[in-house]
Amino acid sequence: MMYTTGRRVRFSLFGTSHGPNVGCVLEGIPKGMPVDEVRIAEDMELRRPKKGIGTPRRETDKVVIRQGVRNGMTDGTPVLMTIDNADTDGSKYLKFAKTPRPGHADLPALVRFPGYDIRGGGQFSGRLTAPVVAAGSIAKQFIGRSGIEVSAFSRSIGGITDREERSITDAAGSRAYATRACTGELDAAMEKSIISASSDGDSVGGVVECITKGLPIGFGGIWFEALDTEIAGAVFSIPACKGVEFGKGFSLAGMHGSESNDPFFSDNGIKCATNNMGGILGGMSNGAPMVFRAVFKPTPSIAKPQRTVDIEKMEDAEVSAEGRHDPCIVPRAVSVVEAVTALVLADQMVRDQERIS
Ligand SMILES: Cc1cc2nc3c(=O)[nH]c(=O)nc-3n(C[C@H](O)[C@H](O)[C@H](O)COP(=O)(O)O)c2cc1C
Repeated sequence: MMYTTGRRVRFSLFGTSHGPNVGCVLEGIPKGMPVDEVRIAEDMELRRPKKGIGTPRRETDKVVIRQGVRNGMTDGTPVLMTIDNADTDGSKYLKFAKTPRPGHADLPALVRFPGYDIRGGGQFSGRLTAPVVAAGSIAKQFIGRSGIEVSAFSRSIGGITDREERSITDAAGSRAYATRACTGELDAAMEKSIISASSDGDSVGGVVECITKGLPIGFGGIWFEALDTEIAGAVFSIPACKGVEFGKGFSLAGMHGSESNDPFFSDNGIKCATNNMGGILGGMSNGAPMVFRAVFKPTPSIAKPQRTVDIEKMEDAEVSAEGRHDPCIVPRAVSVVEAVTALVLADQMVRDQERIS
């Protein structure tokens, strides 16, 4: 089965954590777009686990473009990409079929799908985000041709919060740091927090912030095609995401309209004096950068024993996950958030062009 999103630029994902490979099909990118495979490899590198703060599972993450790109250009047919799963060890997962991990998808998956292959978390594994990043890289290249740029960074990890207002340049600068923090100081503090939880057999969560520049006023759709609706849906599809807010988000609840409205002013066009709305009005861009945040929960698989149920005996039991896991999902989720955002924007862009013409 494939998992599909998008209307004109359609993205379909397939594979499982411990199957032969994971992959995707990307349809609707117009013919003749140059595809830079070096940039795809760079984006894949950013998603890879970093030593000490990521899973010890080692994958080369080499993206094989099987069709849809010829002589470095899209040929107008669907782009099919696969990435091999090489470093698999399913033995540590078998006990979860009897004693499901709290916080992971084991329990609903075992009930819903008879014969579910639980190794590596099956289709619910973070491994499926590898093809998302590969396709997202092509989508970034496509929207980049129209001057649209997307960059994300770690706003908080394990209780360490970046309190500065950040620009898209700051966000792009986070690529230099393993935790995807914006500065070396924050990176060190976030890393310390991850290592401290992990050495205690535990995990931490945090917040990814994503900034998009270059959207013209009016870009987007309304109601179910609204920009924020589609972005939120795509970001919520990333495993472990538990919340998305645009602009000031939940803190708007405590403001007056006179504080929350972003006043307009004229300066070579219409500009917003503040960006409390995260760049969106009525589901369309108001010309300010689109800014949203997504919260990722602490990694569910932890070495600390937790209460569960032995589903064969129907008795209370304990389970611990000593296998190979990310003690924090946030640093790797940053690339995935950028990727799904670019995929939605590419799809919206093709629809926008159709609406105009
Ligand atoms: C990049 C990435 C890596 C992940 N790594 C792990 C991991 O090592 N161990 C784990 O238990 N969950 C990991 N997850 C989270 C699970 O896949 C997710 O929590 C699970 O499928 C349940 O889905 P839900 O949290 O959205 O309800 C990862 C998620 C992402 C996005």
